[in-house]
Amino acid sequence: MKEEKMKEEKIVVTSALPYANGSIHIGHLVEYIQTDIIVRALKLAGKNVIYCCADDTHGAPIQIKSTQLGIKPTELIAKFQKEHQEDFAAFHIKFDSYYSTNSKENQYFSNLVFERLKKKGLIYEKEMELTYCENCKRFLPDRYVKGECPKCGAEDQYGDVCEKCNSAYKTIDLIKPYCTICKGTPIRKKSTHFFFKLSVLSDKIKKWLLENKNLQKEVRNQILTWIEEGLEDWCISRDKPYFGFQIPGTDKYYYVWLDAPICYISSLTNYLGGDVKKGEQYWNKSKIIHVIGKDIIYFHMLFWPAMLMEADLTLPENILVHGFLTVNKEKMSKSRGTFLTAREFLKLADPEFLRFYYAGSLSKTMTDIDLDLDDFVARVNNEIVSNIANFVYRTLSFLNRNFDSEIITFKDDKFTKKLEKLFSETTELFEKYELRKAVQNILQISSEGNRYFQEKEPWVLIKKDSKKAHEVLSLCINLVKNIVILLKPIMPIFAGTIEKQLNLSNLSFNDLNFDLKKHKINDAEIIYKKIDSIISEEKGGVKMEEDKFLKLNLKVAKILEVKDHPNADKLYVMKIDLGSEQRQLVAGLRSYYSSEKLLGKKIVIVSNLEPAKLRGETSEGMLLAASDEGKGSVGVLFVEKSEPGTTVTIDGSKPCETIISFKEFLEVSLVSKESGVFFEDKVLFAGEEKVLVDKKIKGKIS
Ligand code: MSP
Ligand code: ZN
Repeated sequence: MKEEKMKEEKIVVTSALPYANGSIHIGHLVEYIQTDIIVRALKLAGKNVIYCCADDTHGAPIQIKSTQLGIKPTELIAKFQKEHQEDFAAFHIKFDSYYSTNSKENQYFSNLVFERLKKKGLIYEKEMELTYCENCKRFLPDRYVKGECPKCGAEDQYGDVCEKCNSAYKTIDLIKPYCTICKGTPIRKKSTHFFFKLSVLSDKIKKWLLENKNLQKEVRNQILTWIEEGLEDWCISRDKPYFGFQIPGTDKYYYVWLDAPICYISSLTNYLGGDVKKGEQYWNKSKIIHVIGKDIIYFHMLFWPAMLMEADLTLPENILVHGFLTVNKEKMSKSRGTFLTAREFLKLADPEFLRFYYAGSLSKTMTDIDLDLDDFVARVNNEIVSNIANFVYRTLSFLNRNFDSEIITFKDDKFTKKLEKLFSETTELFEKYELRKAVQNILQISSEGNRYFQEKEPWVLIKKDSKKAHEVLSLCINLVKNIVILLKPIMPIFAGTIEKQLNLSNLSFNDLNFDLKKHKINDAEIIYKKIDSIISEEKGGVKMEEDKFLKLNLKVAKILEVKDHPNADKLYVMKIDLGSEQRQLVAGLRSYYSSEKLLGKKIVIVSNLEPAKLRGETSEGMLLAASDEGKGSVGVLFVEKSEPGTTVTIDGSKPCETIISFKEFLEVSLVSKESGVFFEDKVLFAGEEKVLVDKKIKGKIS
């Protein structure tokens, strides 16, 4: 019953409509990623949500730009609409309806709202003086006239506000104005325009602001201040040439900011199949949630509610306002290489990493969000790769290797109860749009998983009590499943891939439990590896080098068996013992060692290298050997006393827990000298024992 009721509740979520005269950049993406995560979370909670957006296609800039390009405005907006939709899809932003302000539904609703406001006597005409360029044969919007500030005299200021003294004025007040299109001197010209009586609605708007408890306090206070200062009526028409909808029976056009928010309703109507009656009804029965940036609150929290309340349309239940994106604490900048379009970012990193990073930075405030590029790399490596992906992979692969991929029943206990509490806390955080806190919870849950795995030591336990180890793994698989569910809103593709590895599908917040007790999973595969800096910058070379070494997980291994490779006369196929497991290794040692010489030797291997097939034989790791170029001899790294499985490190450094690629291995330069094997000035040790090179070869290690 309760569930049915929930389904009945209709929710419409929107993001602001991007302008159709430019590309989507990483600043825009803050908003669309934030909204998409919220929508996905609501859907996973079983809510009936429709996510609507559209391209904002009207206005003078689009008309001017298309004239300059010699194409029709409709061609220009079609090009950007396609590009925008491709970019959003690439970042897994999934709209239920992505429409256009230049649509018949939007024309219908614009006229409808205008008519309703007019009927209430809220629209009047007034003659005014504007700036006109006789050369370009057009009135000039404030961004298209420049001149000296009438207050402080600063040169080259736009027609609305002075960047030097911050004072606001009208374009006609500019001293020595010039047209930015043709550089000619404009004149003053009279024109009659339509005005919306915003001033008389001050009290109504104030009441709505005070009664709507969902609004962010800082935003509400800002608007209340504006109301206190006194609202001016709003000019809602423009002269031709303009790209937009003509106001019926006149030669004027609706100002772009009139028809743009109305398109939230039009986009919803498009989703419902284009029936405008149905669209209006659905809107009025829904909870409306807008997500916007702090630069457009004036439009969304004054003009828009005023229009809605007087046109008998439902007002937003919530307006979530986010801050602006900075990169490395500064405004995005082309010269610093930090003004990145969505497309450019795709070349640098996985789009889901950006989703994760933004989610980890977003809260319900207007505070700016900083994309710190070093922090980005660190968070991807520490939080996604080393924490989450590592827990997932070690759990799944252990089950694959040891228990035929099947899980068994186990008992819930204090640990699972504690986790269940964290799960419900996390879903609540999503519903409260507290994305940063939700991410922190998910990371805590995954850390708990890693700790549990580490403490239970299933690789030891399995030898004494296989059933117990199997139970540990079965619980861990459930935990992986739950982490996947909570990650779904943020990293839908990553989560979907693990869902497949788990041999599950369509998981939702309802499945957050430890009920999976008889099940067979699929084969685990590594999804993410650590990343390097995404935009190269000057960095301390030494630290970078050390970071590279720290990616290696070196271990002592004992050679149990050596066979000739069936298809390659330089290669051996060996079986090795790593203490907790046995593996197959392929090594190019046939020209340098007889099989007898190698048998029983304790060598050093890179144990976290991604498995590779060498001429048809799998190698799970790589043996380390030194070679002296020139003389053509090769000697393996070895130890005498240390047990198989012992970790080989410098300075007792921690071995890396994640899988690396061969390329990453090649970036680490190790050398053998008289006194041992070195990484820079540090010696390699297996516990207390120094690693040595067979045949006393001095040279590079590979
Ligand atoms: N077309 C208007 C919105 C009309 S809504 C009825 C508009 N378009 S925009 O393309 O300039 O911005 C779209 C959204 O992206 C806005 O909410 C804006 O705040 C947001 N952002 C644009 N640049 C941004 C950053 N650098 N950082 C964060 N958000 C930013 O405004
Ligand atoms: Zn001009």
